[in-house]
Amino acid sequence: TQIPATLIRGDGIGPEIVDAVLAVLEPLGNPFAFTEESAGLGALEAHGDPLPEATLASIRQTKLALKGPLTTPVGSGFRSVNVRLREAFSLYANVRPCRTIVPGRFSDVDLVVVRENLEGLYVGQEHWIRIEDDPYAVGVATGFNTRASCRRIVEYAFDYAVKHGRRTVTVVHKANILKVLTGVFLQEARAVAKAYDGRVALDERIVDACAMQLVQDPSRYDVIVTTNLFGDILSDLVAGLVGGLGFAPGANIGKDAAIFEAVHGSAPDIAGQGKANPVALMLAAGLMLDHVGRDDDAQRLRAAIAATISGGTRTADIGGTASTSDFGKAVAQAIRAG
Ligand code: NAI
Ligand code: MG
Repeated sequence: TQIPATLIRGDGIGPEIVDAVLAVLEPLGNPFAFTEESAGLGALEAHGDPLPEATLASIRQTKLALKGPLTTPVGSGFRSVNVRLREAFSLYANVRPCRTIVPGRFSDVDLVVVRENLEGLYVGQEHWIRIEDDPYAVGVATGFNTRASCRRIVEYAFDYAVKHGRRTVTVVHKANILKVLTGVFLQEARAVAKAYDGRVALDERIVDACAMQLVQDPSRYDVIVTTNLFGDILSDLVAGLVGGLGFAPGANIGKDAAIFEAVHGSAPDIAGQGKANPVALMLAAGLMLDHVGRDDDAQRLRAAIAATISGGTRTADIGGTASTSDFGKAVAQAIRAG
C-alpha cells in the first residue's frame, strides 16, 4: 500500500533533484502516493504567497512531506519558508545523519547532528536601534531557549541513541559566554542524561572546540545535540567531511508531522544545468522510508546509491560527469539489479 505524502519540488535545483528522487522511488514500487504542492519563491511568483494555505493543508492531512530546497531572500523580503514550516508543524527535531559514502579525507565518518529546530536565535525577533540620524545604527536579535524545549530535544537525542545503538551523546553549547541562552540547554542535558546512565554517555563540548575537533577527527563524535544556530553551522561542517552538501540529508520531526529535505539550499549558481547532486535528497527519501517503517526499501536505496558511486557514476561536485538525471537513472538501475 502507498503512503500518502506531500511533495514540494522547491526552487533552483529543487525540481531537478526531485525528478531524480522520483526515478529511484519507482523501482521500489512508489512507496509514497504524493500530492504535489508548492512553496518558496516559485509559489510566491505563481500564487502571490511563498507558503500557500493549500500546502499547509496538505501537510496537515498527510503529516509527511518530501521537500526540495526553497530560496529565501537575504537581508530583506519574506521570512524563510523553511523556518515557517518548522514552526507551523512544531517540527522540533532536525536530525542530520552524516556518513561517508565516497571516502575522501576521512573514510569512516558516521555521526548524527540533532539540532533544536524552533528556538535559539532563529525565533526571528530582530530590530534596529536608531542613534541620532541613523535609524539602522544597531542590529539587535533576541534569542531564547525554553527549558521544556531543551529537555524535549535532548530526550529526543538520547532516545535516538538508544534506538540506533549509539553510545555517546555530545551536548554542544557555549555556556561559558552565553551562560543563560545556552546554559539552560546544558543544564537540561545533564538532567536528562541521568536517566540514560549506563546506556548512553553524556559528553559536553563548547561549540568552537567542537568545530575544530570535527575537522581533525570526526570519529570522536557519535550523536551531537545542540541549539538551533550551532546545529545549522555544524551540520554544514559535517557535510563537508563526507563530500559536501550533495550528501547531507535532514529530517524535521515533530509529534504530528515530519518533513524530509536536503541540508543544502536551492544552489542558484548551478540551477537548471543538470549538474546538481541528487544524493542528499535521495538520502532524505531514505530517512522518510525509515520513518514510515520501510527499512528494507531504505536499505536498498542506500546500497544502490553507494554502488552507483563506487561504480564510477558521479556528479560534477565530486569530480564526475554524470548529469542529475543520469545519476538518478543509474541508481534506479542499481535498485532493479540489486
Ligand atoms: P546552497 O546550499 O544552495 O549552495 C551552497 C553551495 O553548494 C553552492 O555552490 C551550490 O552550488 C553547492 N551545492 C548545494 N547543493 C548542491 C548539490 N545538491 N549538488 C551540487 N552542489 C550543490 O546555499 P546558498 O547558496 O547559501 O543558498 C541558496 C538559497 O538556498 C538561499 O536562498 C538559501 O536561503 C536557501 N537555502 C534553503 C535551504 C532549505 O530549503 N532547506 C537550506 C539552505 C539554504
Ligand atoms: Mg543551513
